[in-house]
Amino acid sequence: MRKKLVAGNWKMHGSLAENAALLAALKPALEGIKAVVCVPFPYLAQAQAALAGSSIAWGAQNLSEQSKGAFTGEVSASMLLDFGCQYVIVGHSERRSLYGESDELVASKYVAAQAAGLTPILCVGESLDERESGVTEAVVARQLDAVIKLAGVGSLAKAIVAYEPVWAIGTGKTASPEQAQAVHAFIRSKIAALDADIAKQLVIQYGGSVKAANAAELMAQPDIDGGLIGGASLVADEFVAICRAAAK
Ligand code: 13P
Repeated sequence: MRKKLVAGNWKMHGSLAENAALLAALKPALEGIKAVVCVPFPYLAQAQAALAGSSIAWGAQNLSEQSKGAFTGEVSASMLLDFGCQYVIVGHSERRSLYGESDELVASKYVAAQAAGLTPILCVGESLDERESGVTEAVVARQLDAVIKLAGVGSLAKAIVAYEPVWAIGTGKTASPEQAQAVHAFIRSKIAALDADIAKQLVIQYGGSVKAANAAELMAQPDIDGGLIGGASLVADEFVAICRAAAK
């Protein structure tokens, strides 16, 4: 049985004071429930100090594909490990669309994360245009194939995939449970064609305007194994309710 996992993606939000309040609220409320928060780089040490010994893991939202060297402004996988990260988001649609990350670059970041022992949360998903022109599955397949080509299907045994339709991110327009389930099932069947066991145990999170109010019906879908939560992960009560809905 796959265990559902909810991760928060704080994006570029927070401050020492705001984070302290949020983490202090999450810690007791999520006792015994495994969850993840992906915080901005400068706050990794704060997350590590606040969450050590709790059931909440922490991670980053990006990393370099390089291991070290003259790469001004970049952060390596081993630096994330120094701060106790277990997870790192790779290929978020904002990285792909705003910062020009190609499928190939995303795949090399995924490899760098795994080589260091981090669990990549690999984001895939189509834009509104792509959905409307009927190429959702082709886009998701292309994004997955880049990673499978570089790292092999076996690498998915130590990864999480997050399906995040771009049109549902931060828009308040959630994919319906049926729309999300259909793409999740597609992802699983695509992987199953290469390796049935890996497909069966792969955690596939849904992300895009998940909130407490719609979490239960999304989490009830057979191929939705948790969520990657943006806006609602900044509100303690919302994030806790989503994590609890997934843990049911
Ligand atoms: P929202 O939950 O704010 O739509 O963001 C989703 C997301 O991009 C998580 O990575």
